[in-house]
Amino acid sequence: MSPVQYITLSNGQKMPQIGLGTVEANDDDLRRAIGVALDTGYRAIDTAYVYLNEKAIGDELQERFSKNKIKRDEIFVTTKLPLIGNRPEDVPRFLSKSLQNLKLDFIDLYLIHHPFGLKCLSEDNTLAQDENGVIQYDNNTDLENIWKAMEKEIEIHCYFPQRKLVDFCKERNIAVTAYSPLGAPWTEEGKSVEPKLLENPLVLEMAKKHGKTAPQILLRFLIQRNLIVIPKSVTPERIKSNFDAFKDELRNAIRVAFESGYRAIDTAFMYSNEEFIGEEIQDWLSKGKLKREDIFITTKVKNGRVRSIGLSNFNKSQIDRILKEIPPAVLQIEAHCYFPQKPLVEYCQKKGIAVTAYSPLGAPWTKEGQEVSPKLLENPTVLEIAKKYNKNAGQVLLRFLVQRNIIVIPKSITPERIRSNFQISSTMKKQKNESY
Ligand SMILES: NC(=O)c1ccc[n+]([C@@H]2O[C@H](COP(=O)([O-])OP(=O)(O)OC[C@H]3O[C@@H](n4cnc5c(N)ncnc54)[C@H](OP(=O)(O)O)[C@@H]3O)[C@@H](O)[C@H]2O)c1
Repeated sequence: MSPVQYITLSNGQKMPQIGLGTVEANDDDLRRAIGVALDTGYRAIDTAYVYLNEKAIGDELQERFSKNKIKRDEIFVTTKLPLIGNRPEDVPRFLSKSLQNLKLDFIDLYLIHHPFGLKCLSEDNTLAQDENGVIQYDNNTDLENIWKAMEKEIEIHCYFPQRKLVDFCKERNIAVTAYSPLGAPWTEEGKSVEPKLLENPLVLEMAKKHGKTAPQILLRFLIQRNLIVIPKSVTPERIKSNFDAFKDELRNAIRVAFESGYRAIDTAFMYSNEEFIGEEIQDWLSKGKLKREDIFITTKVKNGRVRSIGLSNFNKSQIDRILKEIPPAVLQIEAHCYFPQKPLVEYCQKKGIAVTAYSPLGAPWTKEGQEVSPKLLENPTVLEIAKKYNKNAGQVLLRFLVQRNIIVIPKSITPERIRSNFQISSTMKKQKNESY
């Protein structure tokens, strides 16, 4: 059992608080490093399209999945939309490429890597350099619409009626809606289950006993658990074949629902009925029979290639611009003892956006990391704290961030370092009330 700690994102998804960074490592070293990291207990890997290492990561993961060493759902993979893909229409294409490279069906967290864009001269030319080596900036980067394109890729999964998830949501005052409350008798699953939910002898017996119908019993079962129920009264077959009749039927159903006191409507883009629902609602609003704030409308987007979406290298005002319907789950930024990013971290945490710190050890492989004096890993205060607590400098630097509820993704291809960087999690458990 892995001792890794998790941070719960605003959508309920759990993200390991330590992950393996992967920038600037050759494929063989990286595959070995991933092996060591997974064996040590790491459960998160951070990559990006521009690191040009997604294929190697995908190969290593695939090999481990096929040997049953680890399951897909046990690993949290983050990757990022490249600068050359920073246009709404390019989001699906670059996401497909990352999925293909990583050999995965979905990505746990997809980030916009930077808040500005470059022209796409070719998919391999990640720095968009022309024949003279000059970087070609795209001056029309439209962050709001890139975010909308990201939202379309997300999987809404807070509606599964699992007990654990329902409990989790309730603890945080998140209302839960149960779909298919009658067992979705129109689906293959609903048709093939034996006995069908609406014909279940126990349900029929209770219905008879209480003078109710089977659907009433089934709905009551959910309502008693404080769930919102959204029984559907129009079948998909009718949606397709009797389009106009369906429209009337649906509008009629909404009319009856409003008259009966319903104030919540559940729909989705893929049900192809949002337009008619909108017409009926408009009718009620324009006649002053209801106010907009009286009605609660739920809709969903269609794909599910990404579990969570987030941002990287965005500042507060850039975050504010896209803080719309689906807020970012994560912001990934440079943060370490020399650059603690206090206001931005506090702002995000207040807004429910988890923060991931990159270069948590001060990126000693970069020019900046090497030129700064003293180097972060050699800072006398850090070394003094390390000595006092019998830790190494890396552990002190990572702990500094983890204690602030920040996710860390130190990069290393050195087995001892990979292991010692991970030890901050178990250390944390043992010394919960102690800080250094
Ligand atoms: N979103 C963004 O724009 C962005 C930008 C930069 C980075 N990142 C992500 O964040 C990850 C981490 O950041 P980073 O790679 O810049 O910097 P970092 O994690 O602060 O530093 C990594 C370097 O430190 C060395 N190292 C690792 N553990 C050590 C230890 N315990 N003691 C001494 N040295 C140690 C590694 O060497 P060895 O490998 O030789 O062990 C490597 O050269 C990246 O790999 C990447 O996944 C994201």
